[in-house]
Amino acid sequence: MSNRTFTMIKPDAMADGHAGAILDQIIKNGFRVVALKQTRLSLEKAGDFYAVHAARPFFGELTAFMSSGTIIAAILEKENAVADFRALIGATNPANAEEGTIRKRFARSVGENAVHGSDSDENALIEGSFFFSGLEQF
Ligand code: RTP
Ligand code: MG
Repeated sequence: MSNRTFTMIKPDAMADGHAGAILDQIIKNGFRVVALKQTRLSLEKAGDFYAVHAARPFFGELTAFMSSGTIIAAILEKENAVADFRALIGATNPANAEEGTIRKRFARSVGENAVHGSDSDENALIEGSFFFSGLEQF
């Protein structure tokens, strides 16, 4: 069990003005910010990040959406970070997400679902390193 996870606030939530409220909810739920930046993925970089989904029918839609605007990327720390963060964001489809979760509150749809959360300790490390050097992590 690791104590770090990786998140992105996706272009829908950025455009809808929810970044501040989402960061507030994350911090109030006990996650410490290890690294944080606003950036924008190119279509190619979005494809690299989501390479694991390359064969899925929604891959083109996903990479187009994730490169459609700015995002906020962050590494977060908390005991049991990966599982606790997935609980905080809720189900992939906001229609199925629990009341009060970030996706229930802020997501538009299953594709434009406000936030990303790593699904394993191994992927949290890989994804955090995709955006941040060691010098940017505190
Ligand atoms: P994430 O990786 O973004 O935290 O989301 P997740 O684990 O809950 O879902 P995953 O299966 O990893 O899917 C990655 C992202 O692809 C988009 N998606 N669209 N149109 C669709 O049916 C569909 N299914 C997934 C979502 O943006 C999802 O978060
Ligand atoms: Mg996932």
